Amino acid sequence: MNKTIITLAAATLFSHSVLATTELPDKQAELPAHPKTEKSDHLVPRDFSTIPNTPFGDKVKQGYSLFVNTQTLQGKYVNNQQNCVNCHMQAGMKADSAPLWGAFMAYPAYRSKNDKVNTYAERIQGCFTYSMNGTPPPQDSPELVALSAYSYWLAMGGLLDKYNMQNTPIPELSDAAVQLGGNDESFILPIEMMKDLPAGKRGSLAGRSFPKLDKPEQAPSIERGEIVYNTTCASCHGANGEGIRDHGVQSFPPLWGKDSFNWGAGMHRVNTAAFFIYENMPLGKSIQITKQEAWDVAAFMNSHERPQDPRFKGDLKANQEKYHNHQGYYGKTVNGKVLGEHSY
Ligand code: HEC
Ligand code: HEC
Repeated sequence: MNKTIITLAAATLFSHSVLATTELPDKQAELPAHPKTEKSDHLVPRDFSTIPNTPFGDKVKQGYSLFVNTQTLQGKYVNNQQNCVNCHMQAGMKADSAPLWGAFMAYPAYRSKNDKVNTYAERIQGCFTYSMNGTPPPQDSPELVALSAYSYWLAMGGLLDKYNMQNTPIPELSDAAVQLGGNDESFILPIEMMKDLPAGKRGSLAGRSFPKLDKPEQAPSIERGEIVYNTTCASCHGANGEGIRDHGVQSFPPLWGKDSFNWGAGMHRVNTAAFFIYENMPLGKSIQITKQEAWDVAAFMNSHERPQDPRFKGDLKANQEKYHNHQGYYGKTVNGKVLGEHSY
């Protein structure tokens, strides 16, 4: 029965206007950082072996492949050496590391600044523009549909299981429905979930985004961060933040420089990077760095040049004032150099 309801809902999803893909999102909105949540509250996506061998299932599988090996889109939609999975850990499934299942249910979302509806697909396009330093795949392109379908599949399986509907197959949605996202009136959930998750209020699933770190006792220091970097990070990310490349394949991602995320990406903000690093790095968590060290090393990492902010129109000061009212070094002077002036 649930299947029928959701599939019907999907058919009515065509009414939303979407941003023309040529229009650059004016702001990479900072996510609300949540407090650290309990593991038992997180959604657990279904086993990949249950992805059906149907045209819809194929889109889900393609979305997974693109997410972990985004470099197959190098030169087309991607212009650096990142893969989506570098920041959204465990194929986008890891709670507290901006998991795709938490994200999918949070869109469409209103952006207060211009009151535009931001669809799920548009949010993915934002990560192509900034984190991948690329040109986003257009609305309805196979790539955008696949990445959206994969996210939906992770979210819906996790939700059904959480509500003890392990035997309910994940309904197959239209391309339009997966690109819109799960936070719309037209995205109807089984009745058992509707009380907890009314449309418009699905953006705070436990484990979404990154957990917030308290402000550090001492202001973040680039100098102290450099010491942390050299002792704890450089072995994998390189002495100059360039990462490690093996036979032309970037096995450890760059953190700054021409192959990294650009000055518009969320990760260039010191706070966002500190949250991510404290939660996830060094990879494997052989040690847990302190909160202060996370802030310091985030400051060090983000005080280096990287690809230019794509919204830059020739005037660094103007771009800084318009888009960089947050914790970052764009337009600021570090070691005698103005960051953003020599961007790639
Ligand atoms: C053992 C190797 C290793 C160490 C040590 C390590 N990292 Fe990483 N780091 C990785 C890998 C691998 C990824 C990509 C994760 C993935 O794809 O699943 C990553 C991803 C990242 C990212 C995501 C952003 C991007 O540009 O891809 C940041 C930021 C980061 N690391 C910072 C750090 C910092 C800071 C330290 C030291 C405190 C550190 N890492 C230590 C291996 C490591
Ligand atoms: C360099 C790190 C990085 C890479 C690479 C990256 N992202 Fe992101 N992504 C982020 C950060 C950080 C955020 C949170 C936004 C913020 O706070 O600015 C985010 C947010 C998102 C969101 C919204 C999350 C939410 O809960 O609202 C989605 C969806 C997303 N990314 C998808 C992708 C996809 C798809 C790719 C690959 C095409 C990708 N990202 C590559 C860092 C990255």
